[in-house]
Amino acid sequence: MVGLMGVAIGVFLTAAFVGLHFSRGQKWQPKEDIVQSILAQRALTFSETTFPEPMSRAAGAVVVGASITTDSSLEETVSAIDDSSQHSPQNISDSDAKVFKIEYVKEGISLEVRENQTLLEAGEEQGWDIPYACREGQCLSCGGKITNGPASDFVFHDGQEMLSSDELDSGYTLTCVAYPISGLRLETSESP
Ligand code: FES
Repeated sequence: MVGLMGVAIGVFLTAAFVGLHFSRGQKWQPKEDIVQSILAQRALTFSETTFPEPMSRAAGAVVVGASITTDSSLEETVSAIDDSSQHSPQNISDSDAKVFKIEYVKEGISLEVRENQTLLEAGEEQGWDIPYACREGQCLSCGGKITNGPASDFVFHDGQEMLSSDELDSGYTLTCVAYPISGLRLETSESP
């Protein structure tokens, strides 16, 4: 009797196993791939670009910001960047550039510096070893201090990203991106 029951149980279990093995069940269906749709939307929103170099962080921020703006506002922003780069003092020809008297206090010399020339470049032309690193307004290595007053009254910073308004008001400048708009007295190698 026990042997018969064992055989019956064995047959039942075998049949159940075979049934489960060959049953198909319901295949799992993934939900819509949200990541792919986001990537597709981003691809439509802004065109291919290379990742901005460190010196182009401002432009990079605009491109990233553009992913959540409309196409027309992106065009306006890009055009504003183009305008500002066209108005850079670097684009003024030497013949058209005004010249300002800059007193380099520590060096004990006054130079005639063109408005399309940075305070750093003018010093380097004299062979002075003025410190610098990035030459893009993104560190403090080339820092100097204008002793006449707020920096914005005496230089145009073409892209400085390091000095606060208080520091600028105190006369601090980044000489690698500082173009004179007036005569001034400069102490090189000074940082806030
Ligand atoms: S060298 Fe870096 S800000 Fe001028």
